[in-house]
Amino acid sequence: MTYPPTTIVIFGASGDLTHRKLIPALYNLYHKGRLPEELTILGFARRPWDDAFFHSQLQEGVQTFSAESYDDQTWERFAPKVHYFQGNLTAPEDFTRLAETLTALERTPANRLYYLATAPNFFEPVIASLGTAGLAQEALEEGAPWRHVVIEKPFGTDLPSAQHLNQFVHTVFGEKQIYRIDHYLGKETSQNILFFRFANTIFEPVWNRRYVDNVQITVAESVDVGHRGDYYESAGVLRDMFQNHLLQLLSLVAMEPPASFQADAVRNEKVKLLSAVRPIEASDTVAGQYEAYLETDGVSPNSRTPTYAALKLNIDNWRWKGVPFYLRSGKAMKRKTTEIIIEFQKPPHLMFGLSGASEFSPNVLSLCIQPDEGIHLQFQAKTPGSDEDMRSVNMQFHYQDAFEGDPLPDAYERLLEEAIQADASLFTRSDGIEAAWQLIDPVIRLWENEKSGPLSKYNPGGWGPFQAEELLSRDGHFWRTGCGQHPSGITLNVKP
Ligand code: BG6
Repeated sequence: MTYPPTTIVIFGASGDLTHRKLIPALYNLYHKGRLPEELTILGFARRPWDDAFFHSQLQEGVQTFSAESYDDQTWERFAPKVHYFQGNLTAPEDFTRLAETLTALERTPANRLYYLATAPNFFEPVIASLGTAGLAQEALEEGAPWRHVVIEKPFGTDLPSAQHLNQFVHTVFGEKQIYRIDHYLGKETSQNILFFRFANTIFEPVWNRRYVDNVQITVAESVDVGHRGDYYESAGVLRDMFQNHLLQLLSLVAMEPPASFQADAVRNEKVKLLSAVRPIEASDTVAGQYEAYLETDGVSPNSRTPTYAALKLNIDNWRWKGVPFYLRSGKAMKRKTTEIIIEFQKPPHLMFGLSGASEFSPNVLSLCIQPDEGIHLQFQAKTPGSDEDMRSVNMQFHYQDAFEGDPLPDAYERLLEEAIQADASLFTRSDGIEAAWQLIDPVIRLWENEKSGPLSKYNPGGWGPFQAEELLSRDGHFWRTGCGQHPSGITLNVKP
């Protein structure tokens, strides 16, 4: 595909995100020939750097974070497209200078993607200055270059602040110009959920309350909060992981089929789904904090910030009425795994007389998002040589085996390419962000108000507090992990 001339301006260009993710992703796209021929990348930051120093910093980032694809020749061709602009994010006059610099760098009028890779307190000043400097304005004629803005997370810290930020951005950019990032949507395996559901015929007919018993979404991380204590104290797991990543996964797995793959068709269905989730009650929540969290730098000694949460959600619509959706996520857990488990109902009548040697498990479909990207389906098989005994076995699809060769692209690669193509389907619309806050905000308030209420401690290296097991066991369920342990086809579910 050939793209029109494009300029990408990265605000916060001396930061970690640019170094670890954005430039390595752009380099990889360039390496694969997936960027516009006429491309300008301009890094905007305060430090007194020049192009040469900026390049050396970025080169080191690409060598570290895109080690497999790095080669000197490609870098030598890529680097001249990258420029450094020293400016202050809160100085409107620097944006007038920026406008002049962009015009001088672009050989022909180009589309412009403004990427806000800054701390959230800079979002408003940068957007305001883009507006004042005339940098957000698109000419009216058909085919005129576009001006789009990519906004990193966190988008607000609660519902009112997200609403305020939406209103503010809308004073400068139209909704169609705004790309709010959730990197989970850039993961190939997250996108594959829609392909699995809607490019096949055999799964969708059973994807509802008549066949599904419960759904579990686990986003477990083995790492702890590390050096991000300051940020994490003000965020906590609900803002950091649930409002965005877990609710996006929930939307993909539970939404109705959109009529097309167009951005608004997909996003309409997601918003409808989130709006159908019943307000979450206190008794359907579990908050946890790992032992030793309080010793983290930047964390208050009596902090009640949750590093783990488990929630039970009910979706009040025709498809899902009565099917519980259990969501959990935490730091310092047993291993890193993101997976969605669809547990199907047991057969209505079992004609086999099971002996003691038999174990009966329902069908379990595991959508493995990471790190073992793929899909597993657990079903019953007759034990050879027995009369009526059976055992659970697994059918497995692994991306690495089925699509041999290159590793899956990083989420940022996908998202940047989509943004350059001006396709917003992997980005969140204003009403989607607000619908997610609408659900999560009351739980945050509830926990904050319950100053002495339960915040369960858990040991690092486990699956979280035991109260989370009770959340499921009271419904006759248990948490399952079905991904990434054993490729040989044996049953993988782990009972607590
Ligand atoms: C980020 C959170 O959005 O997602 C981090 O701020 C978290 O706390 C990260 O570690 C997880 O992303 P991934 O892609 O490693 O699962």
